[in-house]
Amino acid sequence: MNTIQEIINEIDKILEDAGNLLKSSENVNELESRFRNFTGKKSKLNEVLHNIHSYSSEEKKIIGSKSNEVKNLIGNIYDAKKKELSNVEHEKLLTGCPIDLTIPGKNIEKQHKHPIIAVLEEAVDFFSSMGFEMVEGPEIETTHYNFDALNIPAEHPARDVWDTFYLLNGFVPRTHTSSVQARTLEKKELPFRIIAPGRCYRYEAVDATHLFMFNQMEGLFVDKNVRLTDLKGILEETVKNLLGARKTRFRPAFYPFVEPGLDLDIECVFCGGRGCGICKNTGWIEVIPCGMVHPNVFKYAGIDPNEYRGFAFGMGFDRIVMLKYNINDLRILYQGNLDILGQF
Ligand code: DAH
Repeated sequence: MNTIQEIINEIDKILEDAGNLLKSSENVNELESRFRNFTGKKSKLNEVLHNIHSYSSEEKKIIGSKSNEVKNLIGNIYDAKKKELSNVEHEKLLTGCPIDLTIPGKNIEKQHKHPIIAVLEEAVDFFSSMGFEMVEGPEIETTHYNFDALNIPAEHPARDVWDTFYLLNGFVPRTHTSSVQARTLEKKELPFRIIAPGRCYRYEAVDATHLFMFNQMEGLFVDKNVRLTDLKGILEETVKNLLGARKTRFRPAFYPFVEPGLDLDIECVFCGGRGCGICKNTGWIEVIPCGMVHPNVFKYAGIDPNEYRGFAFGMGFDRIVMLKYNINDLRILYQGNLDILGQF
C-alpha cells in the first residue's frame, strides 16, 4: 500500500501532466478530449482514488481534499486554455481564412408578379365573385372551333379579319379566345358563366399597339333569360373594377358570333376625351368587344336558341393592363426588362 505522501505525489504528478497536456493543446477539439481523460470516470485521478477505502478517515480527508483541489485546478487550466483557443480560432476566421466574413451579404431583390399576371389574378377574383368560373382551351386550335363553330364559315370574308397563321397540319394558333366559347358550349352543363383567359396569335407587324402574340380574356354567360341589360351591367362593373370609375359608352359593332354586337369604349385615359394620337382623335378607347350570342353559335353546339340566351365578350387583356398602368407601348410587357417591369 502506498503511503499518503506517495499518493499526494501521484496526484501532483497528474496535475503537472494535465497542465502540460492541456496547455499544449492546439485546438478546442484536442483540448476537450484531453480534458476528458483527466476528469472522466476512467481518468488517472479516479484510479488513484479507487483504493481510498483502505485508508484511515483522517487520511481519506487529506486525499479527498487534495484530489478536489487538483480537479479544480485542472478545470481552471482547461477554462483558461479554452478561452485562449476560441479567441485564436475566431481571429483566424476573421483574418486567415479565404472567406471574408466582413463582406456585406448579397442583396436579394424582392421581385413581384408580372403586371399581366397581377391584373389577371385581380380579374379572375372579380369575375369569380360574380359566379364566373375560369376555363382554359388549347392555344393550337382547329379551324372548326376557331371559326366555323363561331359562325365564321370558310370562304366568308369575315375570316380575313383575324390575320391567321395557318400551320402545315391544318391547325391554327388560335386567333382569339372565342374558340373556348365554342368548346365550352358543347360540353358544359347549362346554365353557366365562364371566363377564359389566354394567349392568341395573329399575323401582325409588331409595333407599339400590335403584337403577333397577345392575351385576351373571353367571357360567356348563358342562361334562359339573359338580356342585353345583364351584359351592360356586368361589363360596366368590370370596367369600374379593373380600371376605376370611367366614362363609358356602348356602340354597335359587327362580330359574326354575336347579334347584336357591341364595343364598350372608355373615355381616353391619355387625353381625357379631348382627342390624341392614342385614341386616334376620337376621345374614346375600345376596351371590351361584346354582344348577345348568335343563334347559330348555339345551334352549332346543339343548344336550342329559343330556350337559351347568352352574352359574350372578349377583351384584349394586354390593353387593359396598358390602360391600368398608363403604358403606351405594348412591347414593354413582353421584353422581360426588370428595370421597367419593376415599376408596376
Ligand atoms: N373574338 C373577338 C376578336 O378577337 C372579340 C370578341 C368580340 C369576342 C365580341 C366576343 C364578342 O366574345 O362577343 O376580335
